Amino acid sequence: MPFIELKRIKGIASSQIERNEKLKSICTLLKDSILHYDWVGFYIVDDFKKELYLGPYAGDPTEHTRIPFGKGICGQVAEKGNLVIIQDVSEQSNYLSCSLNVKSEIVVPIFKNGKLTAELDIDSHSDSPFTEWDEKVLKKICVIVSKLF
Ligand code: SME
Repeated sequence: MPFIELKRIKGIASSQIERNEKLKSICTLLKDSILHYDWVGFYIVDDFKKELYLGPYAGDPTEHTRIPFGKGICGQVAEKGNLVIIQDVSEQSNYLSCSLNVKSEIVVPIFKNGKLTAELDIDSHSDSPFTEWDEKVLKKICVIVSKLF
């Protein structure tokens, strides 16, 4: 079972550094702590343009710096507001590929006062790696992170 100390996430969230540095530190901590997390990043809602824009991330740069609502997995989560686990991205028709190495993805919505404000997006190079553990832990992390918005 993978392990991440929520205390460390809370510590980063309540530290004196600015918001994007906190988000970046959380991405790096998750990527470095969990073997099957190969890219970890935040997408932030641009309500005016009905798009997500890329926030802090850890991993290789991605061309998907702006994602219209409805496009790809992240854009679908923006429209529906539900957590999505894709265990095999090759089966998806509405999917934005960042790298051929990515096999699976989890996207967790972040709500502030009941409104979608951002998403936590994690890509994995492993086949079907996500379990209830990821879902449970990442939801808790997103509640902590929501307070930063
Ligand atoms: N795969 C995502 C795009 C973002 S990258 O994974 C960093 C999607 O389909 O929305």
